[in-house]
Amino acid sequence: MVTTIAPLVLDDAAVLGRLHNALWRSTYAGLLSAEVLAARDDASNVRRWQERARAHEESGVSREGGRTLVAHDRAGAPIGWATVGLPRDASPPTPVELWSLYVAAEHHGRGIALALVAAALPDAQAAHLWVLVGNDRAISFYRKLGFVPDGVTEHDDAVGADDLRMVRGV
Ligand SMILES: CC(C)(COP(=O)(O)OP(=O)(O)OC[C@H]1O[C@@H](n2cnc3c(N)ncnc32)[C@H](O)[C@@H]1OP(=O)(O)O)[C@@H](O)C(=O)NCCC(=O)NCCS
Repeated sequence: MVTTIAPLVLDDAAVLGRLHNALWRSTYAGLLSAEVLAARDDASNVRRWQERARAHEESGVSREGGRTLVAHDRAGAPIGWATVGLPRDASPPTPVELWSLYVAAEHHGRGIALALVAAALPDAQAAHLWVLVGNDRAISFYRKLGFVPDGVTEHDDAVGADDLRMVRGV
């Protein structure tokens, strides 16, 4: 169970960089091509997370303007995160986008994702997000929190698959 949810710091970065890739591989197997999944490299992803964490320690957000909150287990190890920021859509349906939400598989179904979203988007505020078509567990989870698909989909050229948009509070 979570002991803390706190802003991203440099000490979290190495674990999160590797966890991010591991969760990509397990979540998107069968949804993305094997080539796309194999192209993710742990060392470069850890460097990206270190850069992101340094920016958070300096200014509270990443260079791109995302704010990441990290959940830790009782021993203090990072086990998941949520990132929110300004919408990246051309015509955003709400003023805030949930950019990213990932929890280590062994902690699924324990309320940690719920706690992360509650901390990142307090008071069930209006927000939206993009999720890969076929990521049924995530879609079920977001529905429980009041997000519904608004019918907008987009092809993500970088990964060769479709995302759908889910919106809450409009
Ligand atoms: C999405 C995520 C954060 C949700 O956290 P979680 O702890 O798994 O969420 P919960 O267990 O509270 O809710 C998931 C719901 O999906 C249901 N579910 C489980 N497997 C499912 C499946 N294969 N298909 C559909 N629904 C499923 C669960 O039963 C649960 O609903 P319930 O509470 O009514 O039983 C977590 O699964 C995760 O990190 N996944 C990998 C990364 C990811 O997909 N992130 C989202 C990117 S947009």
